[in-house]
Amino acid sequence: MKNDLFLRALKGEIVGRPPVWMMRQAGRYLPEFIAIREKYDFFTRCRTPELASEITVQPIRRFGMDAAILFSDILVIPQAMNIEVQMKPNFGPYLPNPIRNQKDVDAVIVPDIDETLGYVMEAIKVTKQMLNDEIPLIGFAGSPWTILCYCVQGQGSKTFDKAKEFCFTQPIAAHILLQKITDTTIAYLKEKVKAGVDVVQIFDSWGGMLSPVDYQEFSWKYINQIIEALKDDAPVIAFGKGCWFALEEMSNSNAAALGVDWTITPQIARKLTGNKITLQGNLDPTRLLSPPKEIKKLVTQMITDFGKDKYIVNLGHGILPNVPLDNVKAFIDAVKEYK
Ligand code: CP3
Repeated sequence: MKNDLFLRALKGEIVGRPPVWMMRQAGRYLPEFIAIREKYDFFTRCRTPELASEITVQPIRRFGMDAAILFSDILVIPQAMNIEVQMKPNFGPYLPNPIRNQKDVDAVIVPDIDETLGYVMEAIKVTKQMLNDEIPLIGFAGSPWTILCYCVQGQGSKTFDKAKEFCFTQPIAAHILLQKITDTTIAYLKEKVKAGVDVVQIFDSWGGMLSPVDYQEFSWKYINQIIEALKDDAPVIAFGKGCWFALEEMSNSNAAALGVDWTITPQIARKLTGNKITLQGNLDPTRLLSPPKEIKKLVTQMITDFGKDKYIVNLGHGILPNVPLDNVKAFIDAVKEYK
């Protein structure tokens, strides 16, 4: 690997500067992405290796991040499990037949990965060729809890109340569903590593919706199964939005790194994780709307606060669609200029 900064930071090695990438970097704030979106619907983009790989490398060409993340979506997993998922423009995910009882859970399958998600593996192979060993490629999956949120709620939500109600009133059915999602995700991520991804990240975007006790039961238990199953295949990054309350326990797992959001200071995140694990994050994505000069100051301070080692510069959640390109450039350049 010509630029192995990201892999070295995941191992906790001493580096000249930390690596940088952005969650959701392959997407909606880029004019070249919008041009492709106008021609092809969402799942066509995911299922066509030439499109998925092109979208993956678009941000790298423009800004030179230290890692690429494969263009896809966490919801290809429920799709492969026999649950219909639509992506509605200007609305987001829509699942017309949400899961609400044991009978619905029984109809969910643990699929053959090659048969249902072979197109992802093809996209990885094409992308690896395009990247030509310049930088590592990240593969990802949603956490079982975050996937359950969409499967039960049927769409995005501010509270995911139907998903939580399902877990709290039908816990046996909920755990069977979570285990099916976990088994599928483990097989899927193992195939992705075989196809060529260098690192995997688990997005627990809605983990912070749960209380600390419920988080253990409905989310972390399953994430940790995935980490244990994957740890010898590739480094695993666990990102839990709003999950600072679980950082101490997460730091005792076999994850290679933990993603943190912007509601925690670098100092407290380091304290909770005993300085023993690589951390990734955590600029407020809305801060990319600040003037470029201000962004550079914030990034420099963030690196100083986390420390340059055992650290991966990132946002605290996905980049927003309305961020100016010059501001993204300021974010990336500030890291590269760090001394
Ligand atoms: O990070 C990357 O650049 C790779 C691509 C990627 C997408 N989705 C592409 C996408 C990744 C890593 C995801 C993960 C994802 N998808 C998450 C976890 C991360 C997070 O943001 O919390 C979640 C919760 C989803 C589910 C999802 N997919 C939603 C809620 C939406 C609609 C709102 C939105 O983000 O725009 C999507 C659609 C989606 N996934 C788009 C993209 C580029 C936009 C729609 C489009 O391009 O037509």
